Amino acid sequence: MCGIVGCIGNKQAQNYLIGGLHRLEYRGYDSAGIVTIGSDQKATLLRAKGKVSELEKLADKNKSISTIGIGHTRWATHGEPSKTNAHPHKAGDIYLVHNGIIENYKELKSELKKHKFITQTDSEVLAALIDSLYDANTTLADAVNQALKLVVGTYGIAVVSVREPDQIIVARSGSPLIIGIDDDETYIASDASALIGYTNRAIYLNDGEMAICRKNGVELRDLASQPISAQVETIEVDMQAIQKQGYNHFLLKEICEQPTTLRSTLSGRINTKDKSVLLSGLNLSSAELRKIEHVTIIGCGTAYYAGLLGSYYLEQLVDGLTIDVVAASELRYRTFHLPKNTIALVISQSGETADTLACLREIKRRGVKTLGIINAVGSTIAREVDGGVYVHAGPEISVASTKAFTSQVAAITMFGIQVAQAKGTGMQIMSKYIDELAKLPDEIEKIVSKYKDKVAKVAKRYAQYEHALYFGRDTLFPIAMEGALKLKEISYIQAEGYAAGELKHGPIALVDDAFFEVALLIDNWLFDKSLSTLEEVNARGGHIFAITNSKKEIQAEEVIRINTKLDILAPILINVVQQLFAYYMAVARGNDVDQPRNLAKSVTVE
Ligand code: F6R
Repeated sequence: MCGIVGCIGNKQAQNYLIGGLHRLEYRGYDSAGIVTIGSDQKATLLRAKGKVSELEKLADKNKSISTIGIGHTRWATHGEPSKTNAHPHKAGDIYLVHNGIIENYKELKSELKKHKFITQTDSEVLAALIDSLYDANTTLADAVNQALKLVVGTYGIAVVSVREPDQIIVARSGSPLIIGIDDDETYIASDASALIGYTNRAIYLNDGEMAICRKNGVELRDLASQPISAQVETIEVDMQAIQKQGYNHFLLKEICEQPTTLRSTLSGRINTKDKSVLLSGLNLSSAELRKIEHVTIIGCGTAYYAGLLGSYYLEQLVDGLTIDVVAASELRYRTFHLPKNTIALVISQSGETADTLACLREIKRRGVKTLGIINAVGSTIAREVDGGVYVHAGPEISVASTKAFTSQVAAITMFGIQVAQAKGTGMQIMSKYIDELAKLPDEIEKIVSKYKDKVAKVAKRYAQYEHALYFGRDTLFPIAMEGALKLKEISYIQAEGYAAGELKHGPIALVDDAFFEVALLIDNWLFDKSLSTLEEVNARGGHIFAITNSKKEIQAEEVIRINTKLDILAPILINVVQQLFAYYMAVARGNDVDQPRNLAKSVTVE
């Protein structure tokens, strides 16, 4: 979704602004813009519909040596994607970039009679509001402060004024903002990836905070204008993590690097010798772990499916545990009840998803302990949960989530083992889980190297279809839904994921020559049942691509048989094959794999 950058110092601002916006491209956007202010107090405003490379062409023709500026990538909410609606928005002497949604913008707009509105955006209303309060006796910081008190909604903003070209004002409520600190240079970004290589020292703004950023200092305040002391943190991500490193797409890189990222998730946390797990960030004593009777898991999209798969593992690991898994976008408006001794697991790659964050806050308000399973260090959810597990999968740049899923499932499983340890239940199954977790990175490595080319070939066979049906039983049901999600996101093929046992209750009516089916089977006690479903689909003229760990005969047009020693965690390997399949399907169809249409990486608005 929308991205913000800004900088003030001694260096040419344009370079950082354009470079920073390129770094934020992965978040998804439809237009981009920057404004810089020269020493003559004149502003240069450049905006373009489409890619940052279009904006960059404009910047090349309008080189500016000014050392202060702000920039934005916009993902349209109010008003179509266009150059006019692109940020920064101008009102009087000020320029503003905004992430989030101003909910009372219509009301505010009707009061702002002096400003001639030229866009359909809620953000221009905020710019006009600030300008209306910015008279000769008011500082920019005070005008921003007064305006924000009148606003209902969410925002991360950066504002500059030609009258005060020695500062950028930033503020946050519900939309992340980070201030990067270097000697004589201050950077602003909505996402740490824009700061990497410029500085590794950063202040993460909290909701309700604003800051006056100058080239050699940052002054933090709350909305009551009370000073706040800034906490400078270290950003640990390196440049390599945000580069393609020879891969054609970030998505393929992220699928292939799962052995490494998963090793980071497991590192120092599982002990195969004494068959134990230690997650040090849970902030729960053994007594508190023993007391857990119910787990509520929330997340959106892929994170939700990771939660769903994790729930199958949790109930095997912890005797008597009850679990519910709910999509955060649904839970937030439901009248839900949390039984006593509940722990909530909040799953999110970005740690910024608006629906997930809203659920987290509601659950906390009810006095229930929350644990995050989060990838992005320092993200809002990570900061607000009571404890949790960073999955340490590194930056996930491609919009479609892959490596985060694998690490999230591993983290939930480790949580289950730790609860089981505390309760002293299921010792045998626990040790099997620990052994399989330890082997999982190597097994993924083998799968990727052994089956990559074969999957690419299979994808060519199915790339012309427009409809797909994925099905699997038990732990393969969440995997089927995740496989279908991945395919639809990046190949734009209509794809549904079903529990194999549900096919007869409706979806089997879809089977015809316009569809192909992805059948997922594991050689376990349910194998014969899965085989029956597959035969029923075959009998109706299905076009089946089967992915299995079984050596037994399977009737399908294409079969990929993974050779693995894993049993309970084999679904994760099957998912890796599906990830590769979705990738090669999207490539075969000539799609923009890393930035699929209409999607954003981090969904910070409802
Ligand atoms: C799917 C995908 C999305 C995200 C969802 C939640 O490939 O990327 O479905 O999983 O938007 O995002 P996070 O995990 O950042 O909360």
